[in-house]
Amino acid sequence: MIKVITQEETFPLRSAVLRKGASYDKCILPTDGAAGIFHLGGYAGEQLVVVGTFFPEDYPGKGPGGIRLRGMATAPAFAGKGYGAALINFAAAQLLADDAVYIWCNARAAAVGFYHKLGMEVVSAEFDVPGIGPHFDMLMLLKK
Ligand SMILES: CC(C)(COP(=O)(O)OP(=O)(O)OC[C@H]1O[C@@H](n2cnc3c(N)ncnc32)[C@H](O)[C@@H]1OP(=O)(O)O)[C@@H](O)C(=O)NCCC(=O)NCCS
Repeated sequence: MIKVITQEETFPLRSAVLRKGASYDKCILPTDGAAGIFHLGGYAGEQLVVVGTFFPEDYPGKGPGGIRLRGMATAPAFAGKGYGAALINFAAAQLLADDAVYIWCNARAAAVGFYHKLGMEVVSAEFDVPGIGPHFDMLMLLKK
């Protein structure tokens, strides 16, 4: 099951999966106050096993209607079981219904294959995020 969750509910997975166990105050993204933001969580039974955060932000040169994805994290014990794909597909359907045009993200190099399977394409050269490593921007058009 995928549903809207709070910012605070994203912190345990953001910390464990994306921030090497950092304290929750270090798991607040600078964009978490963006207008129109929403956080999604996916559950295995009662357990929250995947989180992702979406908010309106256009990608340079790609026009209006952009939605940026950040903080995508699946609990390691549940990786590769379809939870990440289910969360993004849920978001894509909702965003399309709300007239969004595309979703984009800064993808860690190790996650490019995951996003590609979901239909996202690399739209930038490789760049480094200090302390995290190589990234690429990826983007997919939402199709009616
Ligand atoms: C990347 C991540 C979010 C993927 O979530 P997930 O729940 O494991 O992904 P899914 O099980 O839904 O995978 C969907 C498909 O992508 C594939 N896939 C998953 N992770 C992959 C990866 N890193 N590289 C290539 N393919 C991948 C799966 O095998 C699956 O393929 P299939 O449809 O042929 O079976 C998750 O592994 C994760 O949190 N990784 C560490 C943190 C991270 O890198 N987050 C992204 C930051 S940009």
